[in-house]
Amino acid sequence: MDTIDIFRFALLFAHIVGLAAIVGSYILQMPWKRGFDFLPLVIGSIVTIVTGNALIAVREVGDLGVDELKMIVKLALAIIVGALSVVGFIRSRRLRKANADDARLKPVMLAIGLVAMANIAVALFWR
Ligand code: HEM
Repeated sequence: MDTIDIFRFALLFAHIVGLAAIVGSYILQMPWKRGFDFLPLVIGSIVTIVTGNALIAVREVGDLGVDELKMIVKLALAIIVGALSVVGFIRSRRLRKANADDARLKPVMLAIGLVAMANIAVALFWR
């Protein structure tokens, strides 16, 4: 294995851990009715976006190239996931401060999980 492959697999490892933080938190919290925690989703979004872009750079350096349209779609979906996670995080903090029920944030959690899983499908089936 050459140096570029070691870099690529280390980044891919972090990329998968980031997406596991998103999808894992979503699956854990889906049966919940209230008391949602959006922080792992925000962190997972940052990790997948940073490592995803670094993976593109490493592939370009290693002359492996990328499918640009696929990467634009993945980035757009990841930005939606990240933006919804931040919205959920801020709104849940505000509701908690006001001692209000956060049950209305469930659709936000659902949307994050579905878009993140759509991104996994894009990663795997778009060849
Ligand atoms: C929620 C966000 C994301 C999810 C769920 C996700 C999912 C995945 C999965 C499952 C893989 C492994 C499959 C494969 O190697 O083809 C992968 C690889 C990859 N992802 Fe993502 N991804 C996300 C965000 C991003 C973003 C934002 C970018 C960059 C714009 C990106 C760029 C890449 C690249 C370049 C690879 C190929 C790695 C390699 O084999 O060298 N990903 N992604």
